[in-house]
Amino acid sequence: MATQSSVKAVMDNVEVTFGGRSVRLPVVRGSEGEAAIDIGRLRSDLGLITLDPGYANTGSCTSAITFIDGDRGILRYRGYPIEQLAEKSSFLEVVWLLIHGELPSAAQMKELKAQVTHHTMLHENFRRFFAALPKDAHPMPVCAAAVGALATFYQEPESEGLIHDTVIRLIAKMPSIAACSYKHSIGQPFMYPRNDLDYASNFLYMMFATPCEEYEVDPVVARALDLLLILHADHEQNCSTSTVRLVGSSRANLFASISAGISALWGPLHGGANQQVIEMLERIAAEEGTAERFLARAKDTNDTTRLMGFGHRVYKSYDPRAAILKRTCTEVINRVGGSSRLLEIAMSLEELALKDEYFVSRRLYPNVDFYSGVIYKAIGIPVNMFTALFAMGRTPGWIAQWLEMRREPSSKIGRPRQIYTGATERPYVPMERRG
Ligand code: ACO
Repeated sequence: MATQSSVKAVMDNVEVTFGGRSVRLPVVRGSEGEAAIDIGRLRSDLGLITLDPGYANTGSCTSAITFIDGDRGILRYRGYPIEQLAEKSSFLEVVWLLIHGELPSAAQMKELKAQVTHHTMLHENFRRFFAALPKDAHPMPVCAAAVGALATFYQEPESEGLIHDTVIRLIAKMPSIAACSYKHSIGQPFMYPRNDLDYASNFLYMMFATPCEEYEVDPVVARALDLLLILHADHEQNCSTSTVRLVGSSRANLFASISAGISALWGPLHGGANQQVIEMLERIAAEEGTAERFLARAKDTNDTTRLMGFGHRVYKSYDPRAAILKRTCTEVINRVGGSSRLLEIAMSLEELALKDEYFVSRRLYPNVDFYSGVIYKAIGIPVNMFTALFAMGRTPGWIAQWLEMRREPSSKIGRPRQIYTGATERPYVPMERRG
């Protein structure tokens, strides 16, 4: 017999009836009007849990950092629209904004720049750490391991005061770690950071200079990289950020939590997609396959091919970051004079997909990764470094989310439940009777 159940909205709470018992659950509202049912009492009062694979409709926390409206293509950090931050701010300004909640004053900005510059160097023993890794190691696991290893160099317990130092160290050392992971993969000596350069320029210098050859940083290229870092800086409760929060919820330290976030970001359905996009575009260019032929494969349900850089769990209209990057692509390619072939293929794939019933009906639009790879490629970043740059950009967001979670008085260790579907109790069968 079916159990009688119902869910009824009553003003600011929802009444749920199940098995003859009822509970009123409060509705929590966000500052942009979103509503959520606080299901805390569902289990104690009705013996129910919620089931939501992939957390597609589950709010894991309240947060004041980033607002996304996926239907309207809106992204704001601390209330500021991403379009305005992309046009007017710098990555370090966004770092301050995400972590402290307000835009920095001139004095605060000066202090942040000085502190970040002071902490860019890695401990000399890191050379031996990198040397122990295989030469063809992908930079993402190298970065994840190196960030985790920072916890062995800075072992102080994380008091509120010391957390500030950990935060600065992470922001400052991420470019050095990412550049070292690249230099290691091509067998070149590591370059020490240069304190006279800004954040993005210093990273480009550590990537491309050698002890025998100077590298002059093109300000247009540095600005494009800074923009990419801004656009990737936070994206509320995505897979890697939720990982950082979950790991941090056990009171694991910040380095360990961010290292876990880097590992989560590596996956091809998350940050790894930008590498996959460029590989897809290059395959189409090399095979002289038309965009139409590729789209047909992406739509075929018997074929696992996906149009990489398309679709998003949250954005069901254009990802605003993709719109900004599409414009930047043309500017960068005009400036550096690289091949525009990949951009042409990307634009024709987009044009066809946005007219195609398959993509339209599923509300699949370009995401941030669709054009970011074309820019990285044009400015000379090797494909296997794309996701490492994403991690560099996302670091302040991870840190801000981790700090918010740790400072929330009601925060608990993350521990989802499950609906068990395995065997019910049965007696142990000795080996000789198992057949
Ligand atoms: N190409 C072809 N079909 C797609 C694509 C795509 N890129 N994305 C989704 N679909 C289809 C699915 O096959 C599914 O079709 P169905 O309803 O007939 O089964 C439908 O659209 C819904 O897709 P889901 O996978 O259920 O959507 P979900 O929200 O779980 O996944 C995701 C979102 C992972 C981003 C997905 O769109 C995807 O795999 N895109 C390509 C990878 C990518 O670009 N990832 C980067 C995301 S942005 C970021 O992490 C920074």
